Amino acid sequence: MAIYVIEEKKLFQIVTAHTEYQIQADSYGVLRHLWYGEKTRCAMDYLLDYPDVGFSGNPYDVGTCRTYSLDTQPLEYACTGNGDYRIPALTVTQPDGSCSADLRYESHKVYSGKYAIPGLPAVYDDKGETLEIILRDRYSDLRVILRYGVLAELNIITRSAIIQNDGSITVRLEQVASFSLDIPSRGWEWIHFYGRHAMERVTERAPLIHGIQESSSTRGTSSHHQNPSMILCQKDCTETSGACFGAFLMYSGSFQTKIELDQLHQTRVVMGIHPELFSWALQPGESFYTPEAVLTYSDTGLETLSHRFHKVIREHVCRGKYQLAERPVLINNWEATYFDFDAEKIYNIAKEAATLGVDMLVLDDGWFGKRDSDDSGLGDWFVNENKLQGGLKQLVDRIRGLGMQFGIWIEPEMVSENSNLYQVHPDWIMQIPGRDPIRGRYQLLLDISRLDVQDYLYDCISKLLTTADITYIKWDMNRSICDWYSSLLPSQRQGELPHRYVLGLYALLERLVTDFPNVMIEGCSGGGGRFDAGMLYYCPQIWCSDDTDAYERTTIQYGTSYIYPISAVGSHVSAVPNHQTGRVTSFEARGITAMAGSFGYELNLGILNEDEKHAVTDQIHRFKTYGPLIHNGRYYRLSNPITDEIAAWSFVAEDASEALVQGMVFRTQPNALRHTLRLRGLDPKGLYQIDGTDHILTGSALLHGGVLLPKTWGDYYPFEIHLTKVSATDR
Ligand code: GLA
Repeated sequence: MAIYVIEEKKLFQIVTAHTEYQIQADSYGVLRHLWYGEKTRCAMDYLLDYPDVGFSGNPYDVGTCRTYSLDTQPLEYACTGNGDYRIPALTVTQPDGSCSADLRYESHKVYSGKYAIPGLPAVYDDKGETLEIILRDRYSDLRVILRYGVLAELNIITRSAIIQNDGSITVRLEQVASFSLDIPSRGWEWIHFYGRHAMERVTERAPLIHGIQESSSTRGTSSHHQNPSMILCQKDCTETSGACFGAFLMYSGSFQTKIELDQLHQTRVVMGIHPELFSWALQPGESFYTPEAVLTYSDTGLETLSHRFHKVIREHVCRGKYQLAERPVLINNWEATYFDFDAEKIYNIAKEAATLGVDMLVLDDGWFGKRDSDDSGLGDWFVNENKLQGGLKQLVDRIRGLGMQFGIWIEPEMVSENSNLYQVHPDWIMQIPGRDPIRGRYQLLLDISRLDVQDYLYDCISKLLTTADITYIKWDMNRSICDWYSSLLPSQRQGELPHRYVLGLYALLERLVTDFPNVMIEGCSGGGGRFDAGMLYYCPQIWCSDDTDAYERTTIQYGTSYIYPISAVGSHVSAVPNHQTGRVTSFEARGITAMAGSFGYELNLGILNEDEKHAVTDQIHRFKTYGPLIHNGRYYRLSNPITDEIAAWSFVAEDASEALVQGMVFRTQPNALRHTLRLRGLDPKGLYQIDGTDHILTGSALLHGGVLLPKTWGDYYPFEIHLTKVSATDR
């Protein structure tokens, strides 16, 4: 049992293996946040203070008491319009046009099993527990149900809210966050992940400043530019020590993370759907479900936090046949051919790949409609027989005949003006009446909130999957969204479209994963523009970035690893000079970087020389050997590639019996000592054999003294060291 309720104190304690979370409904029914941190085994209300702070007003029902203010107390779900001037979680316009909600405790429920959320992705766990706290507006029949899902062993707490209109008149939700959390001041620093197309999830860490800081997306997707995840850590927090708190949102649309350091140096975090362009008419009897946020707290540094997030995403977010299975090694033709291919060219790439041991060919953009460049064809999801003479089935069968699986690229949410679909259904796009739409990569967006659009796409995709033996889809999404307007929604409900778009996408994906359980969907949005846990509920891996440069990828994959497991990271070896940066790195450096993910190739294997071909078979062999360790082991960030001279990471088996250390030394200097790299996660008493040789070192030596990296030559010099625990020392 993880949820304890002390009825007489209305105290709720959520106790996981190493953390504790406490909230309390006080004598006014206000739900206050008492604690999220280490286990205390003590009611933490003794820490509450009641200063008389000027310009922080007092609720009417506290009478003449000047020291009780919602503006200064730590609250569990903050609302606009009740005297708390900090960032709100909930903003409601009431039927009379006023903007206020004053939530007070009404009741609670505890039950076994982690709750689910209709229409939205959520952590699943039959063995989990759920706490629901039902709050009611003091002045109306608006109820808010705060839900807490607890995975005690994993130290994971999820939060989401249901807003329920039990009154008889429609209310308008202007902002509904998944959670707000008031945590005491401890000198927090904020880690977030920013970027742009082909340079996603760059890690940035900065002290909080007084006032509000934010990371968000209003692009309709979670975006390349910010990620729906965050970490707060203490100044002295490192990978291995110190306190940190992290959260990610299971949502793929516009989001907002706001953090406020207030007048009393208290910190509030609010995370959820971005309120800009959002509003929701909640009719009598209706409920609104927020997306879920997933939280953890670690007092042993960032590495523990990442390990918990990796585990919960891999084991309780990802689903389906490929959730834990080793993924096929694939060859994708995009950087090999771009739009310039025919059936023969694709077959020849596959033939070469088959001889080298690749498992699957993925036919990328350009196989359908009149798609010879990126300005046409989207929406026409039937094969272009001029290009693929003999049709798709024939090509798929030939490639299957080579012993390979076949995967295919689609971009269902889009339409090109130069397409049959647009000619027939110009009404299906999102466009504000009387205004020209914004083009992105020449393309427009289908209004996927519409059932008829979802049905059309479902029919196209299911036809594709049933007419040929296709076992993989790369689901792309290549632009940001604006022109929010759905011709099916009345004017006063247009603000619902950004969220309805995401619900439509999830509904379509859910139908497909249910009806085609043997097909793996890989997520993609110009690389990692929709790299979030919402998508990972449907797609166990996501193309991490359109930047395939091995050096840049070390930064992108480093940032990604704070929250997301390695198995989720689609990563390929591509040609040099690299197509995004012009940089030249060795075949082995590219292989090592790509192996820290779900591995594949994205180049013309036919033009490789014999040495490189040999390297391909060797890399595939190593990936197949180490794949289970890479995906199931614990991941350690052994350097920071943004600030250090090397990139280094390792995968260590849960029982510390085996480890794989990989990385690259960025530059070689003359007359320099070799680098030593201190490892982590090993058994200090274990004796470890290095790379199958008779060189044996103790875990303790490797942890404290480190491993000596090879002598380098040139730039981006790759290394890989495999350690096997052969026995233990009794000293
Ligand atoms: C996006 C993807 C690429 C490729 C192209 C095709 O940019 O991220 O991998 O599929 O689209 O147009």
